[in-house]
Amino acid sequence: MKQILMTGVGSYLPETILTNNDLSQFVDTNDSWIKQRTGIESRRKAKPEELTSDLAVRAAEKALHSAGLAANDIDCIIVATTTPDCTFPATATIVQNKLGAFNAFAFDVQAVCAGFVYALSVANGLMSSGQGKNTLVIGAETFTKLLDWSDRSTCVLFGDGAGAVVLQAEESEDGYGIIANTLHSDGRYKDILYVDGGVSSTGSIGHVRMQGRDVFKHAVEKLAAAMDEVLSIAELTADDIDWLVPHQANVRIINAMQKKLNLADEKVIKTVSTHANTSAASIPLALAAGVEAGKIKPGHLLALEAIGGGLSWGACLVRFGRPG
Ligand code: UT7
Repeated sequence: MKQILMTGVGSYLPETILTNNDLSQFVDTNDSWIKQRTGIESRRKAKPEELTSDLAVRAAEKALHSAGLAANDIDCIIVATTTPDCTFPATATIVQNKLGAFNAFAFDVQAVCAGFVYALSVANGLMSSGQGKNTLVIGAETFTKLLDWSDRSTCVLFGDGAGAVVLQAEESEDGYGIIANTLHSDGRYKDILYVDGGVSSTGSIGHVRMQGRDVFKHAVEKLAAAMDEVLSIAELTADDIDWLVPHQANVRIINAMQKKLNLADEKVIKTVSTHANTSAASIPLALAAGVEAGKIKPGHLLALEAIGGGLSWGACLVRFGRPG
């Protein structure tokens, strides 16, 4: 049986840093509210000419390098994004062209902040059925371009960035690679987190709108249930987790998950303070930060989870790297 191994990871953050104090210059907010309620201290912002595909390519190049692969070794590219370069073609095909990965088929996945766990699950399914031996899964966002900068309840929460992983289908020791995943959606909650625009509705891009308190409650409850589910599928317990690599929306949500799983601080990757919520990019950005810091090592069991607009949510267990 082939395993779907995670053999490379990379990330990219735009250069411009916006601190909480920077935001308080033009919207009625302050550093202490943002820090206390969210854990966010700063976020990155892409330049107007910097596109989601540009961020994605930078992250993908690093992931390819860390896996020891070249662009033409890749046969599938999946980009999870809510902020595509254009309505079509898929940002993944633009990334393919910029990378020169012409042996790949490429498409986007849209599940907002849950996009990366959705894309991992889609890749796992395709690769397990023989489509794609070497797949790039990328989460990339220029989310600041979707923000209403006069709405303090949303504009302080988000940032830009990209993260990428290389997945490889290989005969391997059991228990490595993607071990279990679960996906859920509940469209009844569309109105608590959405964008008030779109091609077939307003014809304009629109801005993010959120009822934060409601989303918060759903996040804590649904992510906990999803994590129980993947642990049960894999016949593992929370004690087996080496690293929780959660979606980075709010440190209070992350802390609630950490408490539920009874994990020590040393077992949770937290990047929300300097990345803010980068939507589909947040998990691979956190993953890359964990690997670069020498925390996440081959053989470690990673628990990934995310929730976002839809509502859509999911969780995934991955044993990182290759055996040996
Ligand atoms: O990635 C997708 C998933 N998204 C999430 O997981 C986000 C989940 N939600 C959250 O993270 C939190 O609900 C927020 C951070 C968005 C908000 O925190 P909260 O503790 O739920 O605050 P709240 O919305 O209940 O607002 C409390 C107060 C309000 O004032 P009043 O009505 O009590 O007078 C807000 O107007 O804080 C006020 N407020 C602000 N004050 C200063 C809201 N935004 C700001 C702000 N600066 N930026």
